[in-house]
Amino acid sequence: MSLPSLQGFVAHAQSLTHGRSDPADCVLALAPLMLELIERAGALLEPQHYRSEPDHYARNLVYDAPDASLSLYTLVWLPGQWTPVHDHGSWGVVGVLEGVLEERNYVRLSPDRGADEGIELARSGVILLNRGAVTSFVPNPDHIHVTGVPAERPRAVSLHLYGRMMNSFNTYDIAAGTRQRVLLQHNES
Ligand SMILES: [Fe+2]
Repeated sequence: MSLPSLQGFVAHAQSLTHGRSDPADCVLALAPLMLELIERAGALLEPQHYRSEPDHYARNLVYDAPDASLSLYTLVWLPGQWTPVHDHGSWGVVGVLEGVLEERNYVRLSPDRGADEGIELARSGVILLNRGAVTSFVPNPDHIHVTGVPAERPRAVSLHLYGRMMNSFNTYDIAAGTRQRVLLQHNES
């Protein structure tokens, strides 16, 4: 891999987000860049970026900006591996490098007044993101979903660019109507 190329990507991404305060403007500017990155990813990524874990999906840090304004990860999904129901607290742009990433969405019915209980979510649509697809999300209200790969499909690998260090997010217990803040290290899943 050539680090200058990846750094070039991140520098370009930072230049596109600089001065854009609306997250919707950021993902609008970055989605085409992610499309390009998917095409070049084979030459840019290293073997450790394809690391998987037997028990849960793997999150591999590719690049984090020194000013914490951006972070880029690969996520490697073995058959049957899923996230919990979660949000992001950030904008994000996702591109699929390999396989089909499945996204099951939720809609929040109760207003978000900052409380971690009394949260009512309804199941919404499903999206199948094939190799080469790009999707994105913005916060406030945050995008709530489950992503993963059903047991009957092969491995998927996706690239995730976020507008911050992805060191925390909320997970939701739908039956209990609660959410919980999860803190994690960059290289943890
Ligand atoms: Fe997500």
